[in-house]
Amino acid sequence: MWDFFSTVRHRHSVRHYRNDAPVEAEKLHAVLEMAAAAPSAGDLQAYHIHAVTDSDKRGQLAQAAHQQDFLFQAPVCLVFSADPERSAGQFGERGRTLYAIQDTTIAASYAQLAAVAAGLASAWVGDFDAAQVRRVLDIRAGLEPIAILTLGYPAEIPEPTPRRPLDEVVTRC
Ligand SMILES: Cc1cc2nc3c(=O)[nH]c(=O)nc-3n(C[C@H](O)[C@H](O)[C@H](O)COP(=O)(O)O)c2cc1C
Repeated sequence: MWDFFSTVRHRHSVRHYRNDAPVEAEKLHAVLEMAAAAPSAGDLQAYHIHAVTDSDKRGQLAQAAHQQDFLFQAPVCLVFSADPERSAGQFGERGRTLYAIQDTTIAASYAQLAAVAAGLASAWVGDFDAAQVRRVLDIRAGLEPIAILTLGYPAEIPEPTPRRPLDEVVTRC
């Protein structure tokens, strides 16, 4: 296991996965537990996660993501859906339009870093047709799919991507 800083530095989007190395059930469980450990507004966890291992469904998710075939190649896709009404019950419009999305994406971020710490690789996928994803997974009305994470053992060494200088993104005051 890496410490937090090494984990963050080693996380790069991976879009090629080994097809001879499934994700162990215990690792997947640990990743999902870390997602659920993320903070959420009012501790409501206004999201739902579909953990997809079925290859037919992954194939259909790849199509829903505009033929991003690595969703099929990855042994696991985690689909994170926001549950706006769950947050709206306590926080009204701000919960509905903001907190539920924040809860969901924070959980996905925790899952992504947990995957890296567990020796897996991942990519965050946002470019998909949400209605199609909903149909593929029979996602109930009221849930809004907003992010997909692919998980698996890497079959490539990804190139680190550049970042804007800190001074450009941070104002110290
Ligand atoms: C909101 C969001 C949407 C993204 N959508 C996609 C996507 O649809 N397909 C893809 O291959 N990568 C997608 N990415 C991954 C980014 O391209 C990637 O994180 C960025 O280029 C930085 O590279 P790195 O993850 O290796 O640091 C997405 C990332 C985020 C945060």
